[in-house]
Formats: sequence, C-alpha cells, structure tokens
Amino acid sequence: MKIAVSGKGGVGKTFIAGTLAARFASNGHPVIAIDADPSPNLGVTLGLTAEEAARIVPIAENENLILLKTGTEFPGVFRLTFTVSDIIKKYSVPTPSGVALMVMGTVRSMGSGCICPAHSLVKALLRHLLVDRNDMVILDMEAGIEHLGRGTAQRVDSLLVITDADRKSLMIAASICRLATGSEIQKIGLVGNRITGTPQEIILRTFAEKNGLDILAIIPYDLKVAESGVTGVAIDEKTSVAVTAIQHLADEMQKE
Ligand SMILES: Nc1ncnc2c1ncn2[C@@H]1O[C@H](COP(=O)(O)OP(=O)(O)OP(=O)(O)O)[C@@H](O)[C@H]1O
Ligand SMILES: [Mg+2]
Repeated sequence: MKIAVSGKGGVGKTFIAGTLAARFASNGHPVIAIDADPSPNLGVTLGLTAEEAARIVPIAENENLILLKTGTEFPGVFRLTFTVSDIIKKYSVPTPSGVALMVMGTVRSMGSGCICPAHSLVKALLRHLLVDRNDMVILDMEAGIEHLGRGTAQRVDSLLVITDADRKSLMIAASICRLATGSEIQKIGLVGNRITGTPQEIILRTFAEKNGLDILAIIPYDLKVAESGVTGVAIDEKTSVAVTAIQHLADEMQKE
C-alpha cells in the first residue's frame, strides 16, 4: 500500500501520517515513511527526539550523495539515470515506532519539468519507493495543492486529504480531491481531524456530500494531542481518542 497524506497547512497531516505509519509497523509490516515537507517534522511523531530529528540531512540537501549519484567528470553536466535502491538502506533512519524514515527535503517541483540534480535524485527515489518496491509507504506531503500536479506523488494508491471543519481547510481539501480525480489514484477520501463534536461533524459530512467526496474517518479533537504539541511530551497512545481513531483507520485500510 502506498499512501499520500495531504491537506491545508496545520490540519494534522504529520500527526496522522506518523500515527498511521506506526500502526502499520506495529501490525508487523515493513513501513517507510517519507517526509516530503520542506520543513520536515515527521521524525518526532515517529518517536525521535527533536535533536535526533534535527540531525537528519534531507536527501535533497545531501550534496555528497547528489554528487555521487548524478555527478559526471564534466562540470555542470549531470547524469539522469542512476541506481537508488542502495539509498534507502543507507539513508533511511530507524525510529522507535518501528517505521523507517526518509526525509526528502524540498520536493516542491516534483510534478514540474525541473531537472536539477537534487530534484532528479528525489524524483527517482520517490518513483523507486512508490513503484518498484513492496514496502508500505506513507508520504507526508507539503501543505496545499501545488505539489499535486502530474508528479510522482500520483503513483500512490490512496490519497488521504486531511481537513478540519474550518471553511478554508474544507475548500483546499476539495481542490486537492478535484486535482487528484482522474489520476490513477484508486482511493481518494477526506479524513476529518480535530473534530470537536456533532455540529462540526455535520458541517464536514454536509460539505462532503455536496461535493461528492468520501469521508474515510473522523478523528476527534484530542486535548492530549494538542498538549503534546506544546510540551513535546509523548502522547499516551492508549488513552488518546485521536490515536485510537487513527489506528482504527489504519486497520480498516489494511483489511481492504
Ligand atoms: N486530533 C487532534 N486533536 C488535537 N490536536 C491535534 C489533532 N491533530 C493534530 N493536532 C495538533 O495540531 C497541530 C498541527 O498538526 P500537524 O503538525 O500534524 O499538522 P500538519 O498538517 O502536518 O502541519 P504542516 O502543514 O505545518 O505540516 C499539532 O500541534 C498537533 O499536535
Ligand atoms: Mg506537517
């Protein structure tokens, strides 16, 4: 299964991507989580300390690796074909959640025709992870819709579009779903997050119905999650209603 997690800024993409990945790993699957946000922070959700996460050099910023893979003896000329399978073993970071983490760095122009060496490398690596390998892959995407052009990210089989009940989040979620419709992505659906109660749930359901969108899960607002974001103290998963709901979504997705 290859899953991309998308949505407006701050709606909970990283929290949901990390919690899903951790659940898949604890269910016994090899999971690779890809942080494709230019300001990466998926590592902390996967149990790394802030210091450990900050030490990871994103692939797109790893000049030695880029040179090794794409460099030629001629300055300014670079290779477009190279092997990437070795990169996963060497540069993915094991995390306490059991998930292997790959931090890509800026992959904003993934769908565009950009052919600079860093982008070529990231693009080839993403393609390899999404198309050639059997691991479960979860892609935590940059906020917004730009990155969802006709790019490598469209090779996923499921696109989870995270939204809260805020109008702007809903509008962006609908745009993302529209952009992805007609691509090869088989499953595109909304995940409502930080839903405070029935009135917000009704807003979300009404919006989804009006726009012909599926709702895959509704994750409640959870003060424990919000507080963990403030204090940095890990969430007690067993007592978190949001974590439980995301774990349930993971289990449902695996059943299909
Ligand atoms: N269900 C929830 N209940 C309460 N707080 C939540 C919930 N989901 C996420 N949060 C909090 O919302 C904040 C934003 O979450 P997160 O970083 O996952 O969003 P994001 O969409 O990845 O943001 P960005 O666009 O900046 O990458 C965090 O402080 C997180 O702890
Ligand atoms: Mg994020």
